This record gives sequence, structure tokens and C-alpha cells, in this order.
Amino acid sequence: MPQNVPLALSLPARYYTSTEYYERELDWFFRAMWVHVGRAQALGRKGAFQVHEIAGDSLIFTRDDASRLRAFHNTCRHRGTRLCAQASGTFASTIQCPYHAWTFGLDGSLIAAPGMDRIEGFARADYPLFEAPVAEWDGNLFVHLGESPAPLETQLGGRDRMFQAWRMQDLAPARRIVYNVAANWKMIIHNYSECLHCPGVHPALQKLSHYLSGENEPAEPGVLGGKMKLRDNVGTLTMEGRLTRACLPGLSHEETRSVYYYAFLPNLLLSLHPDYVMTHTLWPRATDQTEIVCEWLFHPGEMARPGFNPDDAVEFWDLTNRQDWHVCEEMQIGLRSRAYRPGPYSHREDLLAGFDRLILETEQRAGNARNP
Ligand code: FES
Ligand SMILES: [Fe+2]
Repeated sequence: MPQNVPLALSLPARYYTSTEYYERELDWFFRAMWVHVGRAQALGRKGAFQVHEIAGDSLIFTRDDASRLRAFHNTCRHRGTRLCAQASGTFASTIQCPYHAWTFGLDGSLIAAPGMDRIEGFARADYPLFEAPVAEWDGNLFVHLGESPAPLETQLGGRDRMFQAWRMQDLAPARRIVYNVAANWKMIIHNYSECLHCPGVHPALQKLSHYLSGENEPAEPGVLGGKMKLRDNVGTLTMEGRLTRACLPGLSHEETRSVYYYAFLPNLLLSLHPDYVMTHTLWPRATDQTEIVCEWLFHPGEMARPGFNPDDAVEFWDLTNRQDWHVCEEMQIGLRSRAYRPGPYSHREDLLAGFDRLILETEQRAGNARNP
């Protein structure tokens, strides 16, 4: 006999519409947690760089002379000019400010500062670039903008070992699509964490994987997720539902019959399929704007085969993504109604209630810290 579930209500509208609240939330989730950036492999060689805007700060990600991944704030130690205006590229061997040519090594050290030789007490060693710690998990790159972070593994809550069989560090992106969605970032996580909407919103997905085949794990502070089964005659999630590629090596039979959906807070949605992995990286841009970078990762052995074509997976999820973004945007609009009041979650929306509890607890802790 299934157990009854206590009533839980969705959040008041201000959690999705207030600019002031949004800023506080960036402090709690994006400036005090490990944030997913993208693929470590995209910075494959010394000097390769990418610039990302994270919670209002611009950061440069690069590899130093020893091939170590580094993240530096994109601001000069002389008078604060932005060092790098390009989104990506390769540094020759240094990072030079375009204003007065202060020059930094790829390890962030200041190696030249024109006109400073006669300044009493000035030492180059006192002015390295501001650095943020980075960490890597199976090829996924993370950064932390806060003080003295706990190890990334702590935030991942043990799930870092759960997906070893997919060997994400070996996979490579075949396609990347960037979406700009007019909805609050939490709505994207909520939408990802329930499939109650699937029969109506995603008829193509419903044909391949029944919306009630899901089993969620209990929500945890950093991780929300579970898996859903593929229907008997379905090999993977593509337009046709047929496997046209080998399953990823190392997966068990059970792992090839399910799709695993995990939201790693605050901004990585990880979807593991029998033959590919899809990631969504969420970048909140305003209380009602989220930039979403979606990548499809495949095994290099499959990618090297003549005729390799990821379109069947990309088209399927691009369609499904757009259906999701549409309902999120409609929700963002509907929440502006002065008549809106929090509504009751169903028992298929347990992860959403878990995420909301985390938000409310975090808010309460922050409030207590401000007014002890
Ligand atoms: S502001 Fe960068 S060198 Fe002056
Ligand atoms: Fe959906």
C-alpha cells in the first residue's frame, strides 16, 4: 500500500520574481557552492582559455605551464581593467592587460609592471591575479567563488562515484546548443526534476519512456535525481528510439535500460543515456532569465566511425528542451499574476518540495547569520 505524503506547497512568487531576492540567492548558491563550468577537456592545452560570467563576475579559465587548470578573476591588479574581452582563445604564454601592459604568467603571477621600478615598497609578488579554486570530476570542471570551500566531493554527496561506469572523462562533445530562456533558474531545475508534465508536454518522450517508470532518490542538499526506464522496444532516447551507436563500454545491462537524470545544484543537469551523456549548464542572468548551455557527449570510438551522426539524439532533446523552456516561460508569466498563491505539489513532485525546503533552510540560516 503506497504511503500518503504530507502536503507541501510551491514557493511564493517573490522567489521567482524579486530582483533583491535573486541577488541573495546568487550569494547562497553561486558564490558559496562549487559551480559547474563545462568540460575540462575544452581547455586541452597550455594557454587555451575560456571566459565565463558567473554570478556577475567574469573569470578566465586556462591551463598553466604545468598544464594545471586555473581560474582567475578577469580584472587587472593595476587599476582593474578587464584583462580579456574574448570569450575563448589561446594565450601565447602570458596574460597582458590592454591598458598599461601589466603582464601576468599563466600561473597568475605578475611578471612585468611598466613604470613601477621606482615605486617604494612595490613588489610584483604582492600583485598576482585573484584566483578561484577549481576542481574536476570525471571531466566536468567546477569553480568556487567563496572562501575556504569544502572539497567538491562533499558537495556531490558521494554521487561522484556513482557514475564512474559512464567514464565521462573519456567522452567528447559532438554538439552544443545555447538557449536563452525567460524563466528563473530554479524553474529549470524544478522542471527537470519531475516528469508529471511529460505525457502532455513531451508526447515523443512519453512514447519512449513511461512517465511513471521513474524512481527518485530522496532529495539531498546538493543533489536531486533518479532514473527512468526505457520502454521494452526502445534502445535509447532519440527521434526513432533505436540504438544506432554502441552502448558506452562498461555499462551494466540495467544501466543500458534506463536514463539517469541528476541535478547537481546549483547548475548542472546530468542526463546519462545508454550511448551518450547530455549536460545542461545553467547560468542565471536575471531573476527571469537563464542562459542554458546544452552539450551532447559521445564516445570517441563512435565519433571516429565513418558516418557518425549525433543528430538523432540532438534533435530529440532539442525538441524536448524547447518544450520544457516553453512551459517554464509560461510559468514565469503566470506567476506575475497578483492572484497567484502557492499551490500543492503532487507526490510525483517530491524532489521539488525537497529543493524548496533547501532554499527555505538556506534563507533561514542566512537570515539568522544576519540577525543572530
Ligand atoms: S589597468 Fe591594467 S595595466 Fe593598468
Ligand atoms: Fe520536461
